Amino acid sequence: MTATRTPPSAMPASAAPCAAPYGTPSPAAPEGVHAAGKGAPVSLPRLAQLRAAGEKITMLTAYDATFAALADAAGVECILVGDSLGMVCQGLPSTVGVQLDTMAYHSACVARGLHRVQGSAWLVADLPYGSYAESREQALRSACVLMQAGAQMVKLEGGGWTAPTVEFLVQRGVPVCAHLGLTPQSVHALGGYRVQGKTDADARTLRQQARELQDAGAALLVLEMVPAALARDITDALPHCHTIGIGAGNGTAGQVLVLHDMLGMNLGKMPRFVHNFMQDAGSVHGAIAAYVQAVKQGRFPDDALHAW
Ligand code: KIV
Repeated sequence: MTATRTPPSAMPASAAPCAAPYGTPSPAAPEGVHAAGKGAPVSLPRLAQLRAAGEKITMLTAYDATFAALADAAGVECILVGDSLGMVCQGLPSTVGVQLDTMAYHSACVARGLHRVQGSAWLVADLPYGSYAESREQALRSACVLMQAGAQMVKLEGGGWTAPTVEFLVQRGVPVCAHLGLTPQSVHALGGYRVQGKTDADARTLRQQARELQDAGAALLVLEMVPAALARDITDALPHCHTIGIGAGNGTAGQVLVLHDMLGMNLGKMPRFVHNFMQDAGSVHGAIAAYVQAVKQGRFPDDALHAW
């Protein structure tokens, strides 16, 4: 018996195959903003190249497949599965309650989103509170969970005691992004979300910790809520570790924001260092593209408005 096949064009609308549901692009035919497979995958050498060329590196958080694909399509180079997801997605009061398996779940969602659209962004995932402080071995075990979920780099907070951990991970093939200044996992120890490095002594400590982290092999360093002049100094002192600022002024090698903040979706008070890119954009894609352009052109952040 021969089966007769109706050509798709002749099918009644109700019988014709429709686009994949729920905004999911077909892996076979990415279109429009989904056609993100435009460039070579971002890598550590590529990030170094951008820095050497004086081009700012863009980073944005994402916690799910769709937003990750949108951020990639809009030209974001690094996607951070931040433990800010504790507040943004889980409704927690701080990042302290975020668990490793939650980070692995969201990292896998983001990795699948990027894979689905042949995205090129570099995927960084946060090691959450309590998953790396006990020992270097614990840090490696936790990092492996995130790397096997799809991360290409892990981020950990703090200076001084973290340098040997960073070295241990890097020597074992785990790229590391460090995080200094306001380190939200230490919010209770710091007494709140405050600008760090304001006194000479604190600034000296941050400079030294940053150098130690570069020496330990950290390839990226998030500087959060530190005075712009200090962040610029640290950036200039670290040729091999690229600083990514958030509330650290315009002199860093790159910038990062929490996705929901820059889309104007903050349930509390918007931090001073955030700009709502959704205000003038017609779409999420447009807002993210405007963020990328503003960072690349050196228009965001504006030290007079967004820094200390
Ligand atoms: O968790 C996060 O989103 C972060 C950024 C604020 C840098 O660490």
